[in-house]
Amino acid sequence: MQTRRCERIPEHPHSLGTMALVAFAVIWQPDDDLRRSMLFTEEHNRLDILFRPPPLERLLGMRTQQKLVADRDTNRLTPHVEPKDPHAATMYRVAPFVKFPLPLADESEYKWPMSESLPPTPNPAQTAAQTLDETRAALHQGSVEMYEDAELYDHEFSRRRHDVAWYRQLATDMTSVHKRALSIVELASGTGRLLLPLVRDGHQLIGIDRSAQMLSRCQARLRALGKKAVGRALLLQADFRELPLHVEKNDRFRLIVCPFNGLQHLYHREDLERFLSEVRRLLHPDGIFAFDVLNPDLAWLSRSPTRRWSRTRFKHPRTGEKLIYSTNHDYDPATQIQWIRIFYEPDPATPKAQASAPRTIHLSQKLYFPAELTALLHYNGFRLWYRAGGFDGQPLSPVSAEQVICARVR
Ligand SMILES: C[S@@+](CC[C@H](N)C(=O)[O-])C[C@H]1O[C@@H](n2cnc3c(N)ncnc32)[C@H](O)[C@@H]1O
Repeated sequence: MQTRRCERIPEHPHSLGTMALVAFAVIWQPDDDLRRSMLFTEEHNRLDILFRPPPLERLLGMRTQQKLVADRDTNRLTPHVEPKDPHAATMYRVAPFVKFPLPLADESEYKWPMSESLPPTPNPAQTAAQTLDETRAALHQGSVEMYEDAELYDHEFSRRRHDVAWYRQLATDMTSVHKRALSIVELASGTGRLLLPLVRDGHQLIGIDRSAQMLSRCQARLRALGKKAVGRALLLQADFRELPLHVEKNDRFRLIVCPFNGLQHLYHREDLERFLSEVRRLLHPDGIFAFDVLNPDLAWLSRSPTRRWSRTRFKHPRTGEKLIYSTNHDYDPATQIQWIRIFYEPDPATPKAQASAPRTIHLSQKLYFPAELTALLHYNGFRLWYRAGGFDGQPLSPVSAEQVICARVR
């Protein structure tokens, strides 16, 4: 007689209720990437993350490798090659050649400052210190210029919603875990692209940013939400490397966020260390520090700096002027800094008398590679607690556009 072996159902660390909830999220909300990919549960008194099993993910739909590549390229501005660019020659200057052996100055790493702020021809009398000062000035310029026209910033990123949904879900899940309204700190809060939805969700927010223009737009948008919203938010103008907040040990924040590449304005190791030590000082031992930065893509970073990419026609939201947007950049692999130039030129169809002068905006971004970031977090008292290659919870892969990270104090 054959005996049938009775298989025990393997014990799952999560209760049936939780599994049912996941199944519900998966089946009924296929468009909501976040719910499908990630769920914070209260079980075992800690936050767990449940990943989708890959076959189910394939069944449901569907982000193939090609789609990921396409998404990544759209995210990073799809190239529109313009080989007949009349300005190309003046927009890009070849860097002064590097003499060997390289000087062993403290910060000799800045040997390749490609910014247009450099004089057109190298001056042999120029000291290393002067070059350094110029590089620092160019870096500063690259962290403020883009934020001077806050209305244009909002216009350009008005379609960026996927990250907002993810941070909102994180805050909601943490509220349900801690069973009380959260006080959240947003570093580099800008015009309130995320801060406002969080305030609307009922959280208390402290938004910190260095740009007066971004903050005043945020303030105006807050006022438009009404008195209650204004009462739930505090906006502070400050450098996120030195935060003007002093909290008692027990009042430390359970959620600190720095969305949309804020960390990429930290160009030197010392800057990042000061920033992380401030986060550590304010973060509750059970708290989460959540942020996202670009996942460095060498193919994109090595694009020709002499060409124009991402050519797009648009109307300025305030002036109504029709403009052509395009961009290019230099990437310095030694410092991992990307020197981006964003060109705004009048549409050729605009009559000359009405056309504004072409403008170039500089944006500098430090690129952080995944293992480097993990190490930096580790040596600054944090541990990586969650990492994905996008706001849809996909694991980090060679085609991931972003690194979405939750870190905790270790
Ligand atoms: C890409 S924007 C992100 C804004 C907003 N978090 C969002 O998601 O739209 C980067 C922001 O960082 C701010 N920023 C850059 N360097 C900073 C610094 N050292 N201290 C504080 N804010 C800074 C800029 O003013 C800008 O508002």
